[in-house]
Amino acid sequence: MLLQWLLNFQRRLAGGKTRLAGPITASDWAKLDARQAFSHIYRHRLWGGTGFYSGAGSHDPGIVTPYVDAIRTWAMGQGPLDAVDLGCGDFHVGAAVRPLFRDYVACDVVPDLIAHHQTGPHAGNVDFRCLDLARDPLPAGDVVFIRQVLQHLPNAMVQDLIPRLYAYRWLVLTEHLPSTPGFTLNLDKPIGPGIRLKIGSGIDLTAEPFLLRALEERVMCEVPQFGGLVRTTLYRLRP
Ligand SMILES: C[S@@+](CC[C@H](N)C(=O)[O-])C[C@H]1O[C@@H](n2cnc3c(N)ncnc32)[C@H](O)[C@@H]1O
Repeated sequence: MLLQWLLNFQRRLAGGKTRLAGPITASDWAKLDARQAFSHIYRHRLWGGTGFYSGAGSHDPGIVTPYVDAIRTWAMGQGPLDAVDLGCGDFHVGAAVRPLFRDYVACDVVPDLIAHHQTGPHAGNVDFRCLDLARDPLPAGDVVFIRQVLQHLPNAMVQDLIPRLYAYRWLVLTEHLPSTPGFTLNLDKPIGPGIRLKIGSGIDLTAEPFLLRALEERVMCEVPQFGGLVRTTLYRLRP
């Protein structure tokens, strides 16, 4: 606990030094690491809302309710599971699924966001940690949730995550994808608030260049948004 607090404090100091003033251009995004990019997004409310706000995909009941229902149906058919939530954001969605699991570790790369959660209403029964999913060791658990996170990241960061996913038995991945059949998978993009939908692409972890090996795969839910589909896929990664 003390170690995590010290780590957050050190990261918040570092975040202050790299603070970017005002709007930034498309080419600037590529120069930022994840902590800088997403701190900037929240500070300047690039996904709208007030305070820390992770965007419509985290709040629109038409998107969130089918997701929570699908996770509940699945989780109730399992024994007790420890969950890890990578890129937990404002935790509006995380809070809805948290009661379905035993231990719950919620992680994000934005130090101020995690510090906010650590003194917030869920601090007593959620272990909030600041980490970069592309670089840092990941918490142990049975199931890892990655919801509308990878769609914002360049392929190199996604690639760095892949080998470490095999530590989990289950991966529940939510990505915003084009609804047009035969779209080009996994086109690269710079880090930032936008997603691959804008370039007619979307993430499929089992395809090139990621080639995630899953023992089972099934779509848990799929909801239309912004001319695309927000799809949640369950992967079994270990027996
Ligand atoms: C669009 S929000 C989604 C939040 C939440 N998963 C949800 O569905 O409501 C994406 C979140 O991923 C976090 N994120 C982005 N890159 C990350 C990284 N490399 N490591 C950890 N978190 C990251 C961002 O800070 C942001 O909070």
